[in-house]
Amino acid sequence: MRMYDLITKKKHGEVLTDEEIQFMITGYVNGEIPDYQMSAMTMAIWFNGMNDHEITELTKVMAQSGDMIDLSAIAGKKVDKHSTGGVGDKTTLIVAPIVAACGGKVAKMSGRGLGHTGGTVDKLEAIPGYRTVLDRKEFFDTVNKCGMSLIGQSGNLAPADKKLYALRDVTATVDSIPLIASSIMSKKLAAGSDCILLDVKTGSGAFMKTLDDSIKLAQTMVAIGEGAGRRTVALITDMDTPLGFGIGNSLEVIESMDVLKGRGPADLTEVSLQLAENMLYLVGKGTIEECRAMAEKAIADGSAFETFCTMVREQGGDDSVLRDYEKFAQAPYKQEVLAERDGFITKMNAEEIGETSVILGAGRETKDSDIDFSAGLVLHKKFGDAVKKGDSLVTLYTSKEASLKDAERLYREAVVIGDTQPVKEPLVYARVE
Ligand code: URA
Repeated sequence: MRMYDLITKKKHGEVLTDEEIQFMITGYVNGEIPDYQMSAMTMAIWFNGMNDHEITELTKVMAQSGDMIDLSAIAGKKVDKHSTGGVGDKTTLIVAPIVAACGGKVAKMSGRGLGHTGGTVDKLEAIPGYRTVLDRKEFFDTVNKCGMSLIGQSGNLAPADKKLYALRDVTATVDSIPLIASSIMSKKLAAGSDCILLDVKTGSGAFMKTLDDSIKLAQTMVAIGEGAGRRTVALITDMDTPLGFGIGNSLEVIESMDVLKGRGPADLTEVSLQLAENMLYLVGKGTIEECRAMAEKAIADGSAFETFCTMVREQGGDDSVLRDYEKFAQAPYKQEVLAERDGFITKMNAEEIGETSVILGAGRETKDSDIDFSAGLVLHKKFGDAVKKGDSLVTLYTSKEASLKDAERLYREAVVIGDTQPVKEPLVYARVE
C-alpha cells in the first residue's frame, strides 16, 4: 500500500477502506508517513469529506493508537464531558462538581488552551498547588473519594490525535467535521467513561460557525459514541458571545466558584445547569426534570462547591483562594475600555475577544509560551445591552503593560455599538441524542 495512492483516492472523493485508514494512521504515528503526505490527505478530507463508516473507523484507529483507559476501578457509572472549545467557557469547573455532588462519577482528562480558546487544565493550574498530573492510582482514588477528578491528558492518550491536531493547526484543516469528530471522539473513547456529554459550540467564537454545521458535527459524534457502546448526548450551545463575564484563567475560576455559590452570571449558570442535568440523565439519575432539580439543589445547598474544594485539596491545591479571591495572584496593570457613543451592543466577536485575552497573556502566543494566570478581561456589557457614552465596556488585566494598547484596539474591533437593540440568541439551540 502507498500513501500516494490513498491521497489520490481521497482527492477524487473516493472512499477509503478500513485497511487503508489503519495503514495511514499507524504509518503516521510511527513516522513512516511524513507530515507533507498527511497534510495533503487532511486537505483532501477537508474538501471531500468522509462517509460515516470511514469516520467511525478513523476514530477507532486513532483511539487505539495509545492507551485505552480502563476505569473499572472506579465504582459506579462514569460520565465524561467535552466542549468543542470556546471563549469564557469554564463549564467543566462547574458541571463536574455538580454531577459529583449528585452521585455521578466524573473522571475527566482535560486539555490546554488552543488558539483563541481557553483550556480547563490552564484554568486549574491558576489554583496554587493544584496538581493536574496524577498517576493512575491517585486519579482513581480521587474519583472514588470525591466523585470527581480533573487532570491533564496523559501523554499516551490518542497520540495519533496529538500529532494530527498539531498538523491541522498549521495547515488550515481544523474546521472539518470528519477531522474534528474523530479527534474529539478518539480521546473520549480512549478515556474510558461509560457516557459522554458533548457541548458543541456554535457561532463566531467556535470552530463551527453555523448552526447547520454544528448540528452535523453533533450528529456525527453522537453516532460514533453510540456505535462504540457509550451513551452519548450533545447540546448545541451559543459561542457567538463569550460565556459569562470573565475570560482568563484565575478570572474564570473565580466566576465558576460564583456559580457554585449561587451568585454567578445567568447565562453561564443556565448553560452549566443544562449540561449537568444531561450528564446526570446519562448516568441514570432520573428524568431530565428530576436531574435539573438535583443539579439546582447541589448549588443551593453548597454541596457542589464543597465537592470542588475537597477535590482541590486532594490534588494538592490551596482551596482557601476559592473562598477569598484576593488570595489569587493579582494582575499589576488594569485598564477600562469606555464606550465612545450611546447605543446597544449589536455584535461581540467571541474569537477576537479570545485573541484579546491571548494578547494580555491569558493564552499562548506560541506552543511554548507561559501563561499569565492573572491576565484576562472582565466584560461589563454583553450582546444586546444598552450603553451610554463613557460607560465601561470591559476591564483588561495583564502583567505586560505594553499589551494594553493592542488589547484595547482589538477589543474595540470585536465589539460593535449600534442604534437598534438586537434580538438575543438562544443559549442552547438544540439537543442531539
Ligand atoms: N477539539 C478537539 O479536541 N479536536 C478538534 O479537532 C477540535 C476541537
